[in-house]
Amino acid sequence: MTDPKRYLITSALPYANGPKHIGHLAGAYLPADIYVRYLRAQKKDVVYVCGSDEHGAAITIQAMKENTTPREIVDKYHAMLKSNMADLGISFDIYHRTSAPIHHETAREFFTMLNDNGDLEIKETEQYFDEASSTFLADRYIKGTCPVCGNENAFGDQCEKCGSTLSPEELINPKSTLSGNTPIKKLTQHWYLPLNRHEEFLRKWILEEHKDDWKANVLGQCKSWLDAGLQPRAVTRDLDWGIKLPNEVEGGEGKVLYVWFDAPIGYISATKQWAIDNNKDWKPYWYNDDTKLIHFIGKDNIVFHAIIFPVMLKLHGNILPDNVPSNEFMNLEGDKMSTSRGWSIEMEDYINDFVKKENGGDQMVDALRYYLYAIAPETKDSEFTWKGFQDSVKGELVDVFGNFVNRAFVLMHKLCKGKVPPLHPAIIDDIDKALLSDIFNAKASIAGLIESYKFRDAQYEVIDLARKGNKYMQEKQPWIVAKSLEANPEAQQLIDNCLHICLQLTANLAVYINPFLPHAAKKMCYMMKVVNKILDWENAGKPNLLSVGYSLREPQLLFRKIDDTEVAEQVEKLKTKSEKIKMDTASSNLSEGVALNILPVTQDTQNNTTSQNAPAEGREVKPEIGFEDFVKIDLKVGTIVAAEKVAKADKLLKLEVDLGFETRTIVSGIALHFEPAAIVGKQVTVVTNLAPRKMRGIESNGMILMAEDADGKLKFVNPDEAVKNGSGVS
Ligand code: MF3
Ligand code: ZN
Repeated sequence: MTDPKRYLITSALPYANGPKHIGHLAGAYLPADIYVRYLRAQKKDVVYVCGSDEHGAAITIQAMKENTTPREIVDKYHAMLKSNMADLGISFDIYHRTSAPIHHETAREFFTMLNDNGDLEIKETEQYFDEASSTFLADRYIKGTCPVCGNENAFGDQCEKCGSTLSPEELINPKSTLSGNTPIKKLTQHWYLPLNRHEEFLRKWILEEHKDDWKANVLGQCKSWLDAGLQPRAVTRDLDWGIKLPNEVEGGEGKVLYVWFDAPIGYISATKQWAIDNNKDWKPYWYNDDTKLIHFIGKDNIVFHAIIFPVMLKLHGNILPDNVPSNEFMNLEGDKMSTSRGWSIEMEDYINDFVKKENGGDQMVDALRYYLYAIAPETKDSEFTWKGFQDSVKGELVDVFGNFVNRAFVLMHKLCKGKVPPLHPAIIDDIDKALLSDIFNAKASIAGLIESYKFRDAQYEVIDLARKGNKYMQEKQPWIVAKSLEANPEAQQLIDNCLHICLQLTANLAVYINPFLPHAAKKMCYMMKVVNKILDWENAGKPNLLSVGYSLREPQLLFRKIDDTEVAEQVEKLKTKSEKIKMDTASSNLSEGVALNILPVTQDTQNNTTSQNAPAEGREVKPEIGFEDFVKIDLKVGTIVAAEKVAKADKLLKLEVDLGFETRTIVSGIALHFEPAAIVGKQVTVVTNLAPRKMRGIESNGMILMAEDADGKLKFVNPDEAVKNGSGVS
């Protein structure tokens, strides 16, 4: 788009269902922030909106996990995400939330308009239903095997392993995530967005009009969707957490908008709220053709922002996005980043460990921003390593950028009395001219890269300019020239020219680095005793930003190195965290009755190895472990002496188990399989040395071994004849 009048920039609304990691930061927030800071430095009319995505199964399932209400979950994580983003310098004009009343109104109005115009279809279909919890199963309420890659834990809306978008019907061997049961089918009515009606428009708009300016990964995904043929997509759900359908919609009782219908409308309601707060008009941002709308997202959000939301916007009469820059994923130390597996660096943790710890926290914000963009997954997946972080901060920020600025200041104080020295035109040589033109040329090249969303290359150009500064200084060696001053006072002019140019370069580096590392840029302004206004983009490339004779402050440290111990600590922390989660999920899977996979084991006496009898279909034998791992598990036989249901948890039973030497409370996820009264007196095998775990507020001290047969029925694993309670099992 040539010469837009205003910019509306959005970053994907994160689900307020937990902390978010630095891969999210690198994917959708940091690039948008860089872009927005660049636009603001150009004095453009720009509004940058974001907020928490507070609906959908992501929230309600987290509430169940944390044994609390969805409301508490969104309040807690909204506050966390909002402050994390601010701490990391993400400069939203508003960080809103989709539970706000203004959003509910906006989303309902949107739905009503589409519905009234006949742009939606109503269909009655059979959908999966979990009888145990009386819930229709969509999205994350249902799990099964991905038909594309075979991942056994694919959700009803998406496989997180291969990224495929799915519908519950496509899952192989579907199971309710609420009860672990196999669901039945039941009739229900829903509203659909008939994407198929818009294929022609989408093809033309995406694959023709934007074939040259959208990123290849985005075009590629869109093309494969379009080639496969678009289907109507349900935009309502049978849930009670979400945006209720408008009252006047017939048959809409008990239904809410699908979270992916309401969430992107969150960009609009956030803009409205921003306008109210700032006494502005929001409408031009969403209705005028001369607005440039850009959605920054991660690759798992492409179809929603490039296909579905644009169709909604078009039907609703809004403008369409000009671009949807999407990043690939950032891996971590050799594995996929994942909060649920504990293999991640949460923004919150980074802030606590590096930003809030000492003064100099600002430096560590910039250091993270720097490294994340130095390795940004702009075209393919990339990898964060703590060692890489350490090397990059030292190799580029400390040794190149920081070092150049520091040397310029130190030498200026030493050789030019703490003032900006004059430039003596008569003795400007080719080396000086070359650097001055590098300073000038950087403006167009950095701007060009930023405007085409190549922020990694743009940031590299800034470092490269500092590198040229170091090289220049090395060639000029003013500290050597200074030694000849007594014999030849004229040599001062050489020193002046060198430092004059180095200081002008420093001022330019502040302008150039500002969108990327705003704290460093501000600190440089302080050192140069200039107001932040100097950072305006119109100043980029100018050779005279600092006036001759102006006295400057002492240099300050812009960046610090990261110690080996810090790297080691973080790597260790990552391992411990993921191990702990692995243990916790193993124990909760077993005790809560989800995905049970303990199978009959027989001893092969011939070669003394253990082999599994006929594992259930599709299940694999776990990787081999050593005997020393096996003996760590303490197994004992006990007798259930009491059993009762746990309030508000339909899967859980609270058991008292007599282990001979003591009686233990154990919470077990078997309530859907056994009547409490029927199991009192039964002998069971207990894992007795499992770390205690609270479930629904009750501390569980151990786990009962269960076997699951092919149709999902559970049986106790116990000795074939009664033994004394407390007998060991090995
Ligand atoms: N909450 C979604 C996610 O984390 C993103 C929503 S983006 C929006 O994947 F457009 F819907 F807001
Ligand atoms: Zn898959």
